Amino acid sequence: MHVLLLGGHGKVALHLTPLLLARAWNVTSVIRNPDHEPEIRALGQGKKGSLDVLLSSLDDVKTENDAKSIIDRVQPDYVVWSAGAGGKGGPARTQAIDEVAAKNFISASFANTKITKFLLVSHIGSRRKQPSWLSDDEWAHLQHVSNNVLPAYAKAKLEADEYMTALAAKQQRKPFQAINLRPGTLADTPATRKVQLGKTAGRGTITREDVAIVADKLLARDDTNGWYDLLNGEEPVDEAVERVVREKVDTVEGEDVEGMVKRFS
Ligand SMILES: *[C@@H]1O[C@H](CO)[C@@H](O)[C@H](O)[C@H]1NC(C)=O
Repeated sequence: MHVLLLGGHGKVALHLTPLLLARAWNVTSVIRNPDHEPEIRALGQGKKGSLDVLLSSLDDVKTENDAKSIIDRVQPDYVVWSAGAGGKGGPARTQAIDEVAAKNFISASFANTKITKFLLVSHIGSRRKQPSWLSDDEWAHLQHVSNNVLPAYAKAKLEADEYMTALAAKQQRKPFQAINLRPGTLADTPATRKVQLGKTAGRGTITREDVAIVADKLLARDDTNGWYDLLNGEEPVDEAVERVVREKVDTVEGEDVEGMVKRFS
């Protein structure tokens, strides 16, 4: 398998790259800054899969065709979106990358018959309605972060999440796994390999390394689909992944998927 990893120099992506290569999958890591190329290349040393670096700025992905030309060049089987403006460049750049470029890669991936999986890294607060499993306090906290702390980011992410969910619901392309991974507050401490996955609490942290570990495991299965919220917790990662699949957990539950489909058709 060959993975197109968008946002290859992000901290989650740096943890994810060696995990994918260890599966003997090939990875093309897309980064903007050539100064980061040696650091990325070093991740490929001595791994089963081979690593390639593609220098490209996601700021320039303004149309589906721009995304398509990158996809056509790489010819991946799976696409991972772990990119983001990271708050640099103000709200306009956040929209250009987290929303516009993400949506262009999503639609270009759905349109490409070789690609069978798209994993989009989002965040736990990216939803419109209070879900049944969250307390009023937890929901108020998530709303506060989305509306007051990171409004441009939250708006852009919600747009991309709903877009992918709408395409997945509308097209029903099989096989195609649209996986939306939704971590809480990110931490740089080492992985604990213990998580809450699926219907989690509304606030809490998760290490970036654990996000990568879960992303790798969700990608490696053929039966993962939909939205998965993620925090550190008590359940070992493998058991958590098994459980969400077995119980068909999808935290899009409570959101208006029909509305998303209408809005994007
Ligand atoms: C992975 O890369 C190696 C070395 O470049 C190549 O021989 C192999 O065909 C690639 N596999 C896939 C699935 O792209």
